Amino acid sequence: MSSNNENKYDEIINLSKNRGILEPTSEVYEGFAGFFDYGPVGVELKKNIEKAWWRFFVQMRDDVVGMDGAIILHPTVWKASGHVDRFKDQIVACTKTPSHKFRADHVIEEELGIATEGMSNDELQKLITENKIKCPVCGSLLGEVSDFRTMFETSVGAESSLIAYLRPETAQAIFADFRWVKRTSRKSLPFGIAQIGKAFRNEISPRNFVFRSREFNQMELEYFIHPDQKFECKYLGDKELGKSARFLDMRTQLKNMEQKEKKTGDEGISMTFGEALEKKVVAWREFDASRKILSEQSSPWHAYWLCKTLEFYTSIGINENNLRFREHVPDELSHYSKATWDLEYRFPFGWKEIVGIANRSDYDLKQHSKFSNKDMSVYDEAKKQNVMPVVIEPSFGLERAIMAVLIESYDRREGAGKDAGKSAGDEKVVLHLANSIAPVKVIVLPLEKKPEPVKIAHDLFEKLKGMYMCDFDESGSIGKRYARADEIGVPVAITIDNESLTDHAATIRYRDTTKQERVPISDIPDKISQIINSSL
Ligand code: GAP
Repeated sequence: MSSNNENKYDEIINLSKNRGILEPTSEVYEGFAGFFDYGPVGVELKKNIEKAWWRFFVQMRDDVVGMDGAIILHPTVWKASGHVDRFKDQIVACTKTPSHKFRADHVIEEELGIATEGMSNDELQKLITENKIKCPVCGSLLGEVSDFRTMFETSVGAESSLIAYLRPETAQAIFADFRWVKRTSRKSLPFGIAQIGKAFRNEISPRNFVFRSREFNQMELEYFIHPDQKFECKYLGDKELGKSARFLDMRTQLKNMEQKEKKTGDEGISMTFGEALEKKVVAWREFDASRKILSEQSSPWHAYWLCKTLEFYTSIGINENNLRFREHVPDELSHYSKATWDLEYRFPFGWKEIVGIANRSDYDLKQHSKFSNKDMSVYDEAKKQNVMPVVIEPSFGLERAIMAVLIESYDRREGAGKDAGKSAGDEKVVLHLANSIAPVKVIVLPLEKKPEPVKIAHDLFEKLKGMYMCDFDESGSIGKRYARADEIGVPVAITIDNESLTDHAATIRYRDTTKQERVPISDIPDKISQIINSSL
């Protein structure tokens, strides 16, 4: 991390703590690694991102419905999905202080700067031994690399003999309930089921604030497609095909790896989704047992959901220059996947995944059919036979979305000037959050404490609070109040002053420009609606 980036990153963590966004849980007991609490501002930001996501992926579409499944599912769900056998990380501990435990791949990648996807425990062990990699905390020898299952176990019932798991992804509730949701929603293929909720992973080394936590939130969509239509996406139009994005595909990365270049050194190539399909960059790939590509065909549904994922992120204020799609290389692919793309954000600590968009084919429904003995296939009236739908899954991490929007919107501006009651040259923090996700949309500020203007301010606040999340602040200088509002990204502030008693108007001040305008108080609710709804 460059020192500039490091400063910004530290400042955002401080802001998050000081302004009630997120902080480690149980802080009075020194925190608990990997678990976080949302404060008053954070919970609004979280709900707004969830709302924006639900609106984009569910409410505005007539081919997607929602559900909200249990956190603890029948344990067989996780046997069927493959998690019980495969959801593991490779762990290595310090021989001197065994509580110093690390993901073996992370230790090696950080020390040697090489990609280790798909390596066996023995291969990782060899790299550690040959390169004399030591405990990153105390410099002692590292022990044996072994497997560590990252699902949290719990026991259910009084006898506590029944082992169950906290769900490591929300997706499986959707697959397990597929028949029920399809029947009750009366949807036919293609259609999607969406869910937002908690997921839990016993990460060996939670890190980078909430980026890798042990309890987090996912926003997932499983989109079910008739297998005969898996190469025909009826929603992929000129708008989507003509849109550009940055792609770092499997082949480029494999080539870079051969040349021993660092995979993350490549920013990706800009092309339209149409070109990405034409060149089979976005493709449905079949592999042999040794993960060699056997065949590939351009995958329009995958391209479509990549495009929608990008659209969503730009709609909540992320600049496309800070986003790229990176495809999983064969060794990195999940057991169920025919191709997976990560949407990555340019974090201060490098390009990192914020969304995984996987082609899960018919793996999950087939597995649940097998393990439950209930047929998950769908009857095709025209063919007079059952077919097993294939699935494209955009899977968003909410905490990573929050980190991305905080980093993207964080700014310091020189002397918010006399406005902020400070001399020029002072820097003030401002979050240029998209209006749709700003935790507080409007703040009402009576300039003086005299009863008449305070009453006008209160009356206006009462009116506005039914429309939007609003705040009222009457303490401190007006400059300090503006500065506090800017720090949590309030898009507009309304000041009521003595003149308001005679001109029946108030001053609207815009966060991003600090420009001010005088508006009749009776026009303010409409004006605020225009401002909040018209822009991002
Ligand atoms: N159902 C597919 C699935 O869970 P994933 O790539 O493992 O795929 C999806 O996770 C998203 O969940 C990631 O892109 C990331 O945003 C988020 N995520 C995964 N593990 C996380 C963790 N430990 N902490 C915070 N977010 C996480």
